[in-house]
Amino acid sequence: MLAHKPDKILIVDDEEEIGQSLKMYLASEGYAATLATNGSVALDMLLTEKDHTVVLLDINMPGLNGVTVLKRLHEAGSDAAVIMMSGHGSEELAVECMKNGAEDYLSKPFALADMLQRIERARTHRRERAEKKQLQQEKEDFILMLSHDMKNPLTAVIGSIDIIREGCLGVINEEQTEYLQSAIDSCNEVVTMIDNLLDIRKFEAGKIQMAVHPYNAHELISRITNQFTRPAIHDGIELSVDLEAATSTIDVDKNSFTRVLGNLLGNALKFTPEGGKISVSCRCISDMEAPTLRIPEYAAIPPDFLKNSCFVRLAVSDTGNGIPQDELDRIFDRYTQLTQRTERERGGAGLGLAYCKLAVESFHGMIWAECEAGQGSKFVILLPCRPDNGNCRS
Ligand SMILES: Nc1ncnc2c1ncn2[C@@H]1O[C@H](COP(=O)(O)OP(=O)(O)OP(=O)(O)O)[C@@H](O)[C@H]1O
Ligand SMILES: [Mg+2]
Repeated sequence: MLAHKPDKILIVDDEEEIGQSLKMYLASEGYAATLATNGSVALDMLLTEKDHTVVLLDINMPGLNGVTVLKRLHEAGSDAAVIMMSGHGSEELAVECMKNGAEDYLSKPFALADMLQRIERARTHRRERAEKKQLQQEKEDFILMLSHDMKNPLTAVIGSIDIIREGCLGVINEEQTEYLQSAIDSCNEVVTMIDNLLDIRKFEAGKIQMAVHPYNAHELISRITNQFTRPAIHDGIELSVDLEAATSTIDVDKNSFTRVLGNLLGNALKFTPEGGKISVSCRCISDMEAPTLRIPEYAAIPPDFLKNSCFVRLAVSDTGNGIPQDELDRIFDRYTQLTQRTERERGGAGLGLAYCKLAVESFHGMIWAECEAGQGSKFVILLPCRPDNGNCRS
């Protein structure tokens, strides 16, 4: 007999006799067993009560069969351990059930003692999974808390170094200025990493707040790119900007857009060796030209995206190491960092591009990477736009 609060077990079987005898046996072993004689009743119970530990699920039932119930439970994120039962099973069916999240599979008829053993094993696995999940959650919460708390002191450090660098506390020479600037750059990199991490979490929790306003695309892009002139000179890299004459309005959150382009330029600097080139280009594309955009297959086109009448196409290209074709999609996933490294490469967390993707998508745009063998990388952002009518913010 179980000494603690009995676990709730749901038996789902259209053959009531089998169900009842299982129920009585499990009750005698200290479990709180309930019986459902069809799939849809079972699904209702499991999705409303949500405290069943184990489900014994018959596969062949009229109406909703066991595999469908299993799939629905899996889709709904149920954490109950499901043991499938079948009188006419096959290896393929067992494999399909396991693929859809079943914990175990048992052919009928079975010995009650065997079922009991499997239930206990399923409970142990479920408990271990829950503990692992909680540990992972605690780890992530801790990292988030630490990141959040590190931001304020870091910002204070940047501010203090900047006061000295500006010469407010006494004259400093060129070499000292350079060291102080490099300290500020390093602190800023950590702040960007923290911002990326915190904002990715906010996106995922649906808690991000964007202040979206109309901006002149060229003005915004030039201003952001100009901030990279000094680091590019410092790294011995030529940075050029090519903006076509016609200007257009894009609706973005200024801080977020600045971080998106900042992440792309930061990557280009990080992955391009000394003597290389980075170019930023921006042009307006009408819907007529949309077929020439060469959107790669892996970049899912948002619904109605191609119905926009014009787009701003912003590209950041570099002459660095490039990215293998089969990794072009994956680099937008969190924590993905490829192995090729230049001498000057500085750490990073693999979060920049994940942030860029979420932010660009929140502006109803698209982002993807391109790479021709031996030609460096190109990152393309497409945003819906309209002609500049003079109402843009600065
Ligand atoms: N311009 C580029 N050239 C070559 N590889 C790149 C380029 N941009 C990104 N990558 C590859 O994609 C990976 C993911 O980029 P991402 O910006 O997400 O992370 P990171 O730069 O490594 O770290 P973080 O941005 O968090 O500081 C990089 O680690 C690198 O392997
Ligand atoms: Mg990066």
